[in-house]
Amino acid sequence: MENLSFPSDFLWGVSTSAFQIEGATSEDGRGPSVWDTFGESADVACDHYHRYREDVALMADLGVGAYRMSFAWPRIQPDGAGVPNPKGLAFYDRLLDAVCEAGISPVATVYHWDTPRAVEDAGGWLVRDTAERFAEYAAILGAHFADRVKMWIPLNEPMVTSIYGYGIGEYAPGEVLLLGAVPTAHHQNLAHGLAVQALRAAGARSVGTANHHAPVWPVTDGDADRDAAEWLDALLNRLFADPVLLGGYPEEIIEHLPDSYVADLPTIAQPLDFYGVNYYEPYAAAAPGPGNPLPFELRAVEGYPRTTNDSPIVPGALRDLLVGFHRRYAGHLPPVYITENGCSFDGIHDIARIKFLAAHLIAVREAMDAGVDVRGYFVWSLLDNFEWSKGYQPRFGLVHVDYRTQRRTPKDSFTWYRKLVSR
Ligand code: FCB
Repeated sequence: MENLSFPSDFLWGVSTSAFQIEGATSEDGRGPSVWDTFGESADVACDHYHRYREDVALMADLGVGAYRMSFAWPRIQPDGAGVPNPKGLAFYDRLLDAVCEAGISPVATVYHWDTPRAVEDAGGWLVRDTAERFAEYAAILGAHFADRVKMWIPLNEPMVTSIYGYGIGEYAPGEVLLLGAVPTAHHQNLAHGLAVQALRAAGARSVGTANHHAPVWPVTDGDADRDAAEWLDALLNRLFADPVLLGGYPEEIIEHLPDSYVADLPTIAQPLDFYGVNYYEPYAAAAPGPGNPLPFELRAVEGYPRTTNDSPIVPGALRDLLVGFHRRYAGHLPPVYITENGCSFDGIHDIARIKFLAAHLIAVREAMDAGVDVRGYFVWSLLDNFEWSKGYQPRFGLVHVDYRTQRRTPKDSFTWYRKLVSR
């Protein structure tokens, strides 16, 4: 831990999201979401809806300065439109009050993938109207919670929704549109810009974003593989960062976007107070084989140890990513927070997680030494939880959850992180 030295005002936190922990999917007027009927059930998940006090007490014991949570859109607007559900607002009042009373600053994600069924039925992120609806939802949250939320994040990882949700169908809503999913990126980018405006108008003090970023490596040094990697990089990284930070789309993607989108770029490029990076692993790409409709082929990154979720462990890629960002977006990049980083390993004596976190924090420290203005770090996740299409198998928590009894047991990594954040 000796070489893990960070500024005294560095913000240490943990992250979760509503659908992955809350359960209680049909309680207090919550409407259905796209995830309710996709894959394993999260009707109970970590039962956080009923056990949030215990979970806040765990965070207080952990000693973190911030808690990143998300609001469930279908609790606030069960049909995805109109007046808010008072019981939905009341749950987050109780939760945020408890977090604040514990001396922890709430960092709130407006949307972490649990689209109301009604919004999806009306076209979801394939239609522009969803961006307008989203801004109305964000305005409701801003008006009600801006007094308690320290930092706002409109959308979590729009890349994952676009690519995994609409591109290859691994995540809800399960569409397989390949590059036909690109409009969902634009509509989410627009939703981001409109929500930033709505949140600020409602009195939000600090508004940023949380994007999933990963370096993309070509499998060989050959031109064709390098071009493929550039293309995948445009799709995964620049499609979401460029419009927000630079007010433009990457050239690789432009031909897949209608001309009319250009008029939205000034709305998308709202000035931000911070930029959140979620990092897990790098990707690899190769030139497409014959018959592949895409300009790249996704490959596994080989030659590194892996987590139980089969992710290669490559801490140095986080440093390279941050330094690359700092260069590409020089003059446009607000202070950076690592809004998610973590790994799945089994067991309470999770030395592998401690090693993972320490190595990634060293990478963050190296990026800071190279001039990147990183202000905080959030572990994904406080609790073992519902890991989307992988269900409950991967365990990402600092706290173990026994899903039969809902018993919480802090892991060794919890004790390690507590020591780190208290220094
Ligand atoms: C991220 C998601 C988060 C969690 C982690 C493991 O992409 O934002 O909800 O699933 O991966």
